[in-house]
Amino acid sequence: MPGQYRWPVEAVGQEAARVHALGIRAVLLFGLPEWKDACGTSSWQEDGVVQRAIAAIKLAAPDLVVITDVCLCEYTDHGHCGVLVEARSGMAVDNDRTLELLARQAVSHVQAGADVVAPSDMMDGRVGAIRSALDQAGMQQTLILSYAAKYASAFYGPFREAAESAPAFGDRRSYQMDARNAREALREVDEDVAEGADMVMVKPALGYLDVIQRVKERVTVPVAAYNVSGEYGMVKAAAAAGMVDEVSIVCEVLTGIKRAGADLIITYHAPDVACWMDTGRWPD
Ligand code: PBG
Ligand code: ZN
Repeated sequence: MPGQYRWPVEAVGQEAARVHALGIRAVLLFGLPEWKDACGTSSWQEDGVVQRAIAAIKLAAPDLVVITDVCLCEYTDHGHCGVLVEARSGMAVDNDRTLELLARQAVSHVQAGADVVAPSDMMDGRVGAIRSALDQAGMQQTLILSYAAKYASAFYGPFREAAESAPAFGDRRSYQMDARNAREALREVDEDVAEGADMVMVKPALGYLDVIQRVKERVTVPVAAYNVSGEYGMVKAAAAAGMVDEVSIVCEVLTGIKRAGADLIITYHAPDVACWMDTGRWPD
């Protein structure tokens, strides 16, 4: 994706300090491990890539809030968000066995210094499993931002290519939501809040503004919206082709997400927007 890089641990501290100086208050980390296996073991190693990146960021920018994405797909050799089990219909994701591994990963991130963990796997019961594992580890103060209403989406394409996390077979429709379903999002959100989510997320954002609005009306915890890779990619490609004015389009897109009810917006445009604000190019 134009303007987006995979940062080595050696350079991530400097980048974190740069964006913090621009006025960005939080970052969301994804890991690209050196090795992958069937269970995503590399995701909970003390010297894992995310764990080392957190330490580097905390050293370079101590006040920057570090949120970590908690999922197995970047760490499994098959690319699914959970461990697999043989089912009558072929291989399937084993929901309950996955919970324990996600909890292990979350605890490991917090041990390394993460402030907030953000489970993106969409397994049933993972917020509760992560909450109790954190509590047992003495991490009662750590917040959970749950990807509560996460739709199966073609808008994740550029991310999967960058993170090398596309599923080796099948798709994610057995655990991510169907775009045609709106009320299911409210059920997912209710479950996550009941299990202890401190913030809930809707993802993607642009095709799901109605969902953001409904979730916002439903819950009292902060609502986050994830303006995902494909949404960013479309804007960048159109701007590069001279079809739209980038600053105006980004402003309109982010305003729309905000208007729908998002309290937090996770967006790849953030450093650009911060620069535009600094240089007076961002509309008042
Ligand atoms: C991992 C994860 C994905 C994204 C965030 N966390 C990919 C997926 O679910 O396939 C997508 C982010 C983006 O497209 O910007 N579960
Ligand atoms: Zn995943």
